[in-house]
Amino acid sequence: MFLLKAATLAGDPGNLPGVPSRELTFLDTLLWVALPYVSIVVIVVGLVWRFKTDQYGWTSRSSNWNESAILRWSSPMFHFGILGVALGHVGGLFVPREVTEALGITEHMYHTGAVVGGGIAGLVTIIGLLGLIYRRVVVKSVRLATSPMDIVTYVLMCIPIFLGAYATLVHQVLGGEHGYDYRSTISVWFRSILLLQPAPEYMIDVPLSFQLHVVAGMLLFCLWPFTRLVHVVSAPVGYLTRPHVVYRSRDERKAVHRPRGW
Ligand code: HEM
Repeated sequence: MFLLKAATLAGDPGNLPGVPSRELTFLDTLLWVALPYVSIVVIVVGLVWRFKTDQYGWTSRSSNWNESAILRWSSPMFHFGILGVALGHVGGLFVPREVTEALGITEHMYHTGAVVGGGIAGLVTIIGLLGLIYRRVVVKSVRLATSPMDIVTYVLMCIPIFLGAYATLVHQVLGGEHGYDYRSTISVWFRSILLLQPAPEYMIDVPLSFQLHVVAGMLLFCLWPFTRLVHVVSAPVGYLTRPHVVYRSRDERKAVHRPRGW
């Protein structure tokens, strides 16, 4: 851990991007080469294994039956918020700066968009998440329906979310004109992993809060297939196009006939 701290606490990008301030250590290789590949393998193989062995358990295990008043606002807030956060990650990590520049998006425009868009998405996620946690703790039937794995899931989900929000607040919102330039470090490292040409040196001088955020994210991926988070992979996109499910009363005499349509 002291090696991480030595890397940089302040996040001063004093060195040229890609030119690390020190030699790579064993811990660097473990965190920025081994862990990413382990997490990719665990999430892919784990999801396939879970699908093959536990298709009936492939569910979000909705607790709508237990309580719906808090769930009605907290769940959409959390889900729409985290969807925004995920889209922001795709834009920030997958798309190289050269591409955004070629599209006429200046650093200032990118930074403002990331801070405003990411900030709103992050805030909505956190409010929704706090609502979901409050409901799980306070509503007895939801608390009783909570498994030990649910608690582990909530904890491992909260850590990257709060660390990401903290890093963004400290380095991007309060950290000077363009904030910390993660597109020259974290994003380059991220793509190097996907291209099977790992470049851990780009992570050495990244601010500690971002390093911890990324490690927490990868640990969450390792847990993913073994939790109710599997439902993310089968998000109900088909709901938008599938035919309506028609419910009818068993007893036609009791059925209330309403005019169809709007
Ligand atoms: C390898 C995985 C990950 C990497 C490399 C990564 C990287 C980053 C970076 C660079 C930022 C700053 C974005 C900005 O300010 O423009 C950020 C913010 C954030 N991240 Fe991650 N992240 C990862 C995984 C995760 C996961 C799994 C979660 C959620 C469970 C998450 C949640 C957040 C949140 C809430 C923020 C705050 C800003 C926002 O709303 O976008 N991240 N992350």
